[in-house]
Amino acid sequence: MTLVGRPVDRVDGPLKVHGAARYPADETWPDLAHAVLAGATVAAGRITAIDATAARAAPGVLAVITHENVLPLRPAPATALGPPPRFPLADDVIRHYGQYLAVVVARTRREAAAAARLLDVTYAAEPPVVRMDDPRAEVVENPFGLEVAIGDASGAEFGYDETFTIPAESNSPMGLFATVARWDGDRLTVHDSTQWPVSVRSVLAGVFGVPEPDVRVLCRFVGGGFGAGLKVWPHTVLAAVAARMTGRPVRLVLDRPQMFAGTGHRSRSVQRLRIAAGPDGRLTAIDHHATSTVGIDETLFSGIVTGTAEAYDCPNIATHDRQVRLHIPNPGFLRAPGHGEMNFAVESAMDELAHRLGIDPVELRLRNFRATHPHSGLPWSSNALRDCYRVGAARFGWSARDPRPRSTRDGDELIGYGMAGTSYSWYVGGCRARIDLGADGCAVVRTAATDIGTGTATIVTQVAADRLGLPLTRVRAEIGDTDLPPAPQSGGSGLATAVTGAVLAASGELLRAVAGLAGGALASRAADELAATDGRVHLRADPSTGVSFTEVLARHGLPELSADGQFDPADSDGLARSGAFAAHFVEVRVDEELGRLRVARLVTAVDAGRVLNEKTARSQILGGAVMGLGMALLEEIAWEDGTGRPPNATFGDYLIPVNADVPDHDITFVGEPDPLNPGGAKGIGEVGLTGVAAAVANAVFHATGRRVRTLPISVERLLSEEPAALVHG
Ligand code: MOS
Repeated sequence: MTLVGRPVDRVDGPLKVHGAARYPADETWPDLAHAVLAGATVAAGRITAIDATAARAAPGVLAVITHENVLPLRPAPATALGPPPRFPLADDVIRHYGQYLAVVVARTRREAAAAARLLDVTYAAEPPVVRMDDPRAEVVENPFGLEVAIGDASGAEFGYDETFTIPAESNSPMGLFATVARWDGDRLTVHDSTQWPVSVRSVLAGVFGVPEPDVRVLCRFVGGGFGAGLKVWPHTVLAAVAARMTGRPVRLVLDRPQMFAGTGHRSRSVQRLRIAAGPDGRLTAIDHHATSTVGIDETLFSGIVTGTAEAYDCPNIATHDRQVRLHIPNPGFLRAPGHGEMNFAVESAMDELAHRLGIDPVELRLRNFRATHPHSGLPWSSNALRDCYRVGAARFGWSARDPRPRSTRDGDELIGYGMAGTSYSWYVGGCRARIDLGADGCAVVRTAATDIGTGTATIVTQVAADRLGLPLTRVRAEIGDTDLPPAPQSGGSGLATAVTGAVLAASGELLRAVAGLAGGALASRAADELAATDGRVHLRADPSTGVSFTEVLARHGLPELSADGQFDPADSDGLARSGAFAAHFVEVRVDEELGRLRVARLVTAVDAGRVLNEKTARSQILGGAVMGLGMALLEEIAWEDGTGRPPNATFGDYLIPVNADVPDHDITFVGEPDPLNPGGAKGIGEVGLTGVAAAVANAVFHATGRRVRTLPISVERLLSEEPAALVHG
């Protein structure tokens, strides 16, 4: 492959830069009305009355929809990621602060917002349960069965026993989520900010009781997702309800506080991690108990310990995963949901073990490398994690590290080196694509997948152009539309593999179709016997047999030739399917008197299988690492005790890294194409983030002797830690 792998510019870059890309909120129709959501100002209890008289009489108002007059909705179907969030307006119960109580629809957004402020809501409020340690809180087993037992960890002598606490974090995509909905009779068209249009169609068809083909969901561009777009949130349904009830197309755009409450977040979690190891550092037992938060009567398809057993070779592993129900907005999925939290605990613990045993942290990881899948015992389809450690260490200059904490100083600053490794479980769904080849020799590749900023449209174009022997300029990707062949979510680091498989299959079928029409030596060939160069299909073994696409179509008087392709994860051929791997190395500088912590250098080595586009792949890792720095240093959604109100649900008060917080990032790709994935690629949406928080915490320990097991590692936390936690030399 010649185009695949190259650092090709994003095919949609010019559209985005010129403002020509249409995001869901940009969509409009004649007669468009605007909806604004009004939220609860208490976190628990009941609505006793909503007086909407003034709101209904306000200028421009077309409808005020509450639980008292909403049209009946059917229960929403579950998706592959579990049941959708509970839809509001179904009853008078308040389950969290900000829960939508009413939809106000007006001629303009300003009129809708003004009318929403005139709603007079009376509550019978109750004290909300917002703390994980509140004795009133109900604790339930993770509904998805994440109790794992490998060997027997029950009798082990655990020399290591520590607890890790991670706060709630916001996905914070830059683009405010929006839904624009229109009904034509019983047919519904929706532009929606989503990572998975097919799931939005299924939920909307389900709640309105219309056939799926009568619902079309489009999301050609979305201003980021990071997991926020993996569920069908209430606002999407409410926009369609508003359109149905007013008989007008309706646009609904969330505001930033609504993004915090209404599109999920990373659950708060507490993890107790116990490890037994021999003096040589070999792990003998792991016991991992995690508890994370969930909405008061919601279901969350996510758990902390899903990846614990995959991290290291260890004969005895037990994991437990519980959820605590709170009056908080429903958590969702945030980049490496669960996995990122698990990684912080496990990789911090490995650093602590290395220090206690006097073994280099990289060496300790190499000694415990997991060469086989923990459950099947099969070898990984590809795993270059050890190369990630070695190459990352070499590029970082790890060998210069004096292992003693507090050993390195530069003026007022203590310098620390830290590292962490990460894997990411394989999570790839089935995918379809269609390619239409025109008489002009240009191809259009179609699939319902979204590009959430990762570069999906670009790699689809590259892969098809490569296989069809066409220049990039003669191939166009059309994506983000449920009228196109179905695709799985852009999530779980799975889409690159799935969509590459489908596009390669469709390209191969198209070559077969052209070859079949050409006849002669080309007829009745299998796709892998065929190749294409410069717009000509030929036998792979003999390029001289070629015939041009345009000639074949012209000869048969065809305006177009189409082919479908499909990728379904099949039998694994004696190998365990691998996700991506990475190792992160960081240098921190800490001014102890000020508690100021700066990440000065960041080096990452990644096993992504075959890299599809070096530029977008690098951006994925860099963007993930920036979020990892936010997790390490800054991010925390708070809900006030007593009120359940979030005091920092704005970009003024919720801190995320800015350019000045982000150091140079040296990124290298290692490893080989994965033999189980067509095209050899492994998705890397997550491994840029996972590992960064632990690497920073490990570097902080090396710099200062302070072990911080509670995120974020804020100035306050660095300054307020008890001096007893200090380790000298
Ligand atoms: Mo990611 S949480 O799989 O978008």
